Amino acid sequence: KWGEKLDGKKYYNLKPFSPLFFRKGKSYQSSSPSTKPILSSPSGSSVPRGALETIGRLMKLGRVRNIVVVAGAGISTGSGIPDFRTPGTGLYANLAKYDIPYPEAIFNIDYFSDNPHPFFSLAKELYPGHHRPNYVHYFIRMLHQKGLLLRMYTQNIDGLEKLCGIPDDKLVEAHGSFATAACHLCYTPYPAEEAKQAIMKGNVPICTFCAGAVKPNVVFFGEDLPEKYFQHAEDFPKADLLMIMGTSLKIEPFASLVNTVKSTVPRLLLNRDPVGPFERRPLRRADYMELGDLSDSVRKLAEILGWHTEIQDLMNSHENGLRSYTDPSNSSDFF
Ligand code: OAD
Repeated sequence: KWGEKLDGKKYYNLKPFSPLFFRKGKSYQSSSPSTKPILSSPSGSSVPRGALETIGRLMKLGRVRNIVVVAGAGISTGSGIPDFRTPGTGLYANLAKYDIPYPEAIFNIDYFSDNPHPFFSLAKELYPGHHRPNYVHYFIRMLHQKGLLLRMYTQNIDGLEKLCGIPDDKLVEAHGSFATAACHLCYTPYPAEEAKQAIMKGNVPICTFCAGAVKPNVVFFGEDLPEKYFQHAEDFPKADLLMIMGTSLKIEPFASLVNTVKSTVPRLLLNRDPVGPFERRPLRRADYMELGDLSDSVRKLAEILGWHTEIQDLMNSHENGLRSYTDPSNSSDFF
């Protein structure tokens, strides 16, 4: 059942929607920097700083060495991939053609068991290969190159983190990926490329062992998260900065991860709207948020850190290499 802990394993649980309290395009911090000795200026004066300036300063001072990034679909909208819940443009607002009882049914394992066709139609559009990583992905890769990334936990199944060069051991794809496939009933592995070919032709790949429908190993509602996800129990207590980017924090158990860093650890939310614990007042003392477009906020932070040109160079050289891998004629054709 939703949200229950069973045999030590956690299951999905959709949280109810909460109202928003904050205006967009603004930088917030939980209290004046003057109340936080670590953040006061060298002269001792209490100059109020925005969230990005404060976090950038901590990073430049070398006070941050183990950053955990928590990300969702909002980091990929800059690559032309819609998120899930933005009214009007989100995936869940554009599923009418699939004739499903409610939007999340398309990723529900019981619904899939009855009728795999809606998911397979959508999967044709979701399969990685059509889109390129954007500046936000490369910023996260730069965190890694600077030796600051402890781990990135992503809910995304678009594969853009891997594509931009974030190595496997730094990445937890908490909601799985298209890289492997298996039977949804008996979990017998199935060659991922063969599954893709069948789905692209409009066929249902069938398990050779039990004749169940095979699906890519993206995690559906009602399924367990991958083993690797549970590494969070070690990672989050070690974090000295949490960056939360482009997620509504509506899906458990992922959403609650952000509450498992120590209470003194700064949490920076980069998103259009406040989400999860950032919707509540008062914020935690070490909570910071920059509301607005993620690419703009990340670029501002990169400029504060003096990384902007380096990220652009990295992006240009890596993108040139990727150009042969992807097919530009297929890009941005979701709806
Ligand atoms: P959502 O669509 O729920 O949330 C995306 C968040 O990113 C929203 O708060 C948007 O406002 C924000 N956002 C989008 N574009 C942005 C931009 N350019 N700049 C700033 N903010 C932006 O997506 P997720 O939180 O990733 O699970 O959704 C979580 C899970 O729900 C998904 O992994 C998926 C879905 O059901 C499964 O399918 C199992």
